[in-house]
Amino acid sequence: MVPAGILVTVAAAATCIFATPLKGSSPRVANRDLVKKHAHVQVPRDWEMLDVHLEDHRHTISLQIGLKQEILMRELFFDKQLDVALMTFIYFRQVHDGWLTEHGIDISTAVSRSAALDWLKVTVPISLAEILVGAKYNVFRNKVTGARVIRTLEYSVPRRLANHIDVVQPTTFFGFRDFKTHSHVKGIITNKANAADTTKSYTVGGVPSSCNDIITPSCLRTLYNSINYTATQSAKNLVGVAGYLNQYANYADLQTFFLQYRPDATGSSFTTVQVNGGGNDQSHPGVEANLDIQHQFPDPHVYYSTGGSPPYLPDSNTVTNTNEPYAEWLNYLANQTTIPQTITTSYGDDEQTVPLDYATRVCNTFAQLGALGVSLLFSSGDGGVGAGNCTTNDGTNQVKFLPIFPASCPFVTSVGGTTRVSPEVGVSFSQGGFSNYFARPSYQSAAVSSFFQTLGATYSGYYNASGRGFPDISAQGDNFSVVVSGITHLVGGTSASSPTAASIIALLNDFRLSQGKPSLGFLNPWLYSTGYQGLNDITSGNNPGCGTKGFLCWSRLGSGYVVL
Ligand SMILES: *[C@@H]1O[C@H](CO)[C@@H](O)[C@H](O)[C@H]1NC(C)=O
Ligand SMILES: *[C@@H]1O[C@H](CO)[C@@H](O)[C@H](O)[C@H]1NC(C)=O
Ligand SMILES: *[C@@H]1O[C@H](CO)[C@@H](O)[C@H](O)[C@H]1NC(C)=O
Ligand SMILES: *[C@@H]1O[C@H](CO)[C@@H](O)[C@H](O)[C@H]1NC(C)=O
Ligand SMILES: *[C@@H]1O[C@H](CO)[C@@H](O)[C@H](O)[C@H]1NC(C)=O
Repeated sequence: MVPAGILVTVAAAATCIFATPLKGSSPRVANRDLVKKHAHVQVPRDWEMLDVHLEDHRHTISLQIGLKQEILMRELFFDKQLDVALMTFIYFRQVHDGWLTEHGIDISTAVSRSAALDWLKVTVPISLAEILVGAKYNVFRNKVTGARVIRTLEYSVPRRLANHIDVVQPTTFFGFRDFKTHSHVKGIITNKANAADTTKSYTVGGVPSSCNDIITPSCLRTLYNSINYTATQSAKNLVGVAGYLNQYANYADLQTFFLQYRPDATGSSFTTVQVNGGGNDQSHPGVEANLDIQHQFPDPHVYYSTGGSPPYLPDSNTVTNTNEPYAEWLNYLANQTTIPQTITTSYGDDEQTVPLDYATRVCNTFAQLGALGVSLLFSSGDGGVGAGNCTTNDGTNQVKFLPIFPASCPFVTSVGGTTRVSPEVGVSFSQGGFSNYFARPSYQSAAVSSFFQTLGATYSGYYNASGRGFPDISAQGDNFSVVVSGITHLVGGTSASSPTAASIIALLNDFRLSQGKPSLGFLNPWLYSTGYQGLNDITSGNNPGCGTKGFLCWSRLGSGYVVL
């Protein structure tokens, strides 16, 4: 019934760290009443600190303070004696009266709360932010993209509030990247693909042989057996596509794509929802955004363009650089009455660059969405077992496989990549591995134990055997036809795999809704217990990285494993 090869393997990505000394980074104000929340040993990979003076009268920053959810939840749900409104009010008061007001912050104008009441946002001059969280803010530049952000390499919170606060941002989380690794303009491909689709030069299994070279909707629909399914629940079955980094999905390109590859879908479109200042510039179509949206089946879908990480302009009056991508987007969703049943995200970064407190907070919020009936799919990354030289950033400079977050969060479904048909094999860049932040969840303990039995001592010391293994499933991820500015490109990356898997999950939800059943919600317990039986078993492929050949596909059915 469904997609992809499951149970590929495991491993992770990353790249390495540019060791920059933390000179001049100690907080301006040493406060013994503060307790450290997070500190980087080095400036994260791909970033450099600029020598720019931040001026108080010009630069403000919006700090987002995440109140501890565990405590909030326990008090809200388990102690029936507690008045919910009263408790959240008490929390809020402890943080702002006991901390913010004593620094002269005007609560009525400078502070706001998220819809779920669990985040406070306070806008203050940079120097005051530095005192509040014991930080030293600097301008950092991304050496790859040129993006500039304001961050600190360490921060703290008041000791007496440490148990009430999960995380404060923007502080030490620098952002993430998309998982589109290759993109080639191949205009001529269009004709070739069309020819193959119309002449129906089938290989064994009914999949057009052209799918070995170019992935079109026909390929995915035949390969994953959805070609004869007609959706009936479009009025209530939504697919969400999360977009960041100024990637805009283009309406005209989608129609061109449909005309070429899915004439029956021509005329159907998507809605763009702009979150936190996210843009929607139709004159600048994004390759990533168009890839993510075009290979969705023609169900109604929503493209979330979430802002953050704008170019930093020294001359602007205000730094609205909250770059709180996940939190902003999650806060937006929490205030909606309708949330798509299936959401795909093709962004992430090396787990080690994401502060543990932030990763934990975001991962827990994903769990809450799953409980609300939302299936969250994330690309597993494009670095094999790890991109670059795989050095750890904890100051020890060891070479380790590098996992990807959010793919490593146990409450999301992480999607790796495959390529070719008959047989479909794991694609070399498909990232996979084991988390250093999140323990192995029980739903995958049997699968991971069997994998380790086969793996033996290979790569011992390169990965964390107690961590959550990823990806959970895989789907086609290379040579996707994507129309950008009217021209067909070939795009590869697990950025293609997650939207593909999401489109299949959406069709399953369509069927469930038509039977009066609820949406699938968090997929993994079902996938690992019974759902895997509906997937194709991918039995070959490996994901090189970190100077190794990477892990080999591990077949659930016990075949195809060769020790490297
Ligand atoms: C890894 O790569 C980074 C950046 O190129 C370099 O600074 C570092 O020395 C390398 N580490 C090793 C162990 O090769
Ligand atoms: C929640 O949504 C309502 C209606 O759109 C809006 O007025 C309100 O400001 C939102 N609240 C937050 C905290 O975003
Ligand atoms: C498909 O992608 C692979 C890289 O994964 C590349 O070697 C191959 O040439 C691509 N096929 C075409 C037709 O471009
Ligand atoms: C789809 O339907 C057509 C026409 O009924 C049939 O010939 C074909 O075998 C079906 N394909 C699949 C994959 O079931
Ligand atoms: C290994 O993963 C566990 C979570 O399962 C974590 O607590 C531990 O710190 C990790 N070890 C290393 C060396 O990162």
